[in-house]
Amino acid sequence: MTRTLTPPRPRRRLRAISLATVTAVVLAAGVAATSAQAAGSTLQAAAAESGRYFGTAIAANKLSESAYTTIANREFNMITAENEMKLDATEPNQNQFNFTNGDRIVSWARSNGKQVRGHTLAWHSQQPGWMQNMSGSALRSAMLNHVTQVATHYRGQIHSWDVVNEAFADGSSGARRDSNLQRTGNDWIEAAFRAARAADPNAKLCYNDYNTDDWTHAKTQAVYNLVRDFKARGVPIDCVGLQSHFNSQSPVPSNYQTTLSSFAALGVDVQITELDIEGSGSAQADNYRRVVEACLAVSRCTGISVWGVRDTDSWRASGTPLLFDGNGNKKAAYTSTLNALNGGSTPDPDPEPGDGCTVTVSRANEWGDRFNVSLAVSGSSTWRVSIGLQGAQSLQNSWNATVSGTSGTLTATPNGAGNNFGITVYKNGSTNLPTATCSVP
Ligand code: XIL
Repeated sequence: MTRTLTPPRPRRRLRAISLATVTAVVLAAGVAATSAQAAGSTLQAAAAESGRYFGTAIAANKLSESAYTTIANREFNMITAENEMKLDATEPNQNQFNFTNGDRIVSWARSNGKQVRGHTLAWHSQQPGWMQNMSGSALRSAMLNHVTQVATHYRGQIHSWDVVNEAFADGSSGARRDSNLQRTGNDWIEAAFRAARAADPNAKLCYNDYNTDDWTHAKTQAVYNLVRDFKARGVPIDCVGLQSHFNSQSPVPSNYQTTLSSFAALGVDVQITELDIEGSGSAQADNYRRVVEACLAVSRCTGISVWGVRDTDSWRASGTPLLFDGNGNKKAAYTSTLNALNGGSTPDPDPEPGDGCTVTVSRANEWGDRFNVSLAVSGSSTWRVSIGLQGAQSLQNSWNATVSGTSGTLTATPNGAGNNFGITVYKNGSTNLPTATCSVP
């Protein structure tokens, strides 16, 4: 992960450790070595180190279960109603609104100091029966009325709204999804966003979808083009939500970070809104780590929400895709997520003579068998960086530094090219980011 990008809010500053007699001052980029200074011990605390939030979906009917609320309250600071703010829940009969369960979730969240993501104002799915049977201009008006009424009810209490959910088709067409809403006219999405902005000017307005994680997919490109068009024409949009439901059919793509950074470059926040990754053990843990690292590497990736608390709470419970097991125990995926959130060391913002040096490590291009690692030294122009390759990893290549060794611990020293250098590492079974420590010889 990149630790040199400007995060949404200033990170807590990590002072270099002064070792009285030794000139070397070392800040490891690896998790273990920084945890004593910076580690958050919960997901929300660790995410907050870089100004991000860590959230979960909550079901109102579980708020009376203390095993559930204990975990939810301890670990998460952004709450999404799993079903309670959807169209069928909030407007069961036309123009008769029911906010009971949505309000229960908002009130639990706010009384525990948490923020709320609103989900969702306009969607082809989970529509009430009356809406499913509507079409044309009557449906368009009913949809806009729904957006206005619901966003007005929650005005001032919502961090971000998923204004429109899942409006694009899967597959290679890049087309809009056919739905009764789409058949009211192609401009239904922007109409919904304008209505939401008018109703709650302070909520961030997001477009949210799934299968939009792989940068090369037609659906991803279609959403990208929608956002670009909205930004160009001044249609109000502030964020893109990537649901990020992953499993073996839909794995975490190797270009995920490219997708996040490409959306962010359009001038919108990126939120990972419904993360779950089916699997178990170290493979699942590794996938969670990759998602977190990708988000941390993109300064406008402002938060991550998982789609439920325990595996047994998941809409895909049989895939055990969450961070806690059914008994509320932390899984390996929890630990890798927490460690990844804690993994960033912050460069000393005002290095002084005698401070020694710090090094930050970030993952760059990745291929099937190998990946690039970028290293940036600050604090000194003379330095020696020890790089701890992970497992059986081996060195393929290096640039902008003299690197000795090929496996285990490598040593890098300046070759006149400055303080930023890189290596290519063969994975040989481990995709973990190498650690690095810097000393002034
Ligand atoms: C799911 C809920 O988790 C289930 O309880 C419900 O039966 C169906 O919807 N994309 C979304 C979410 O945007 O609203 C969906 O939530 C999961 C997929």
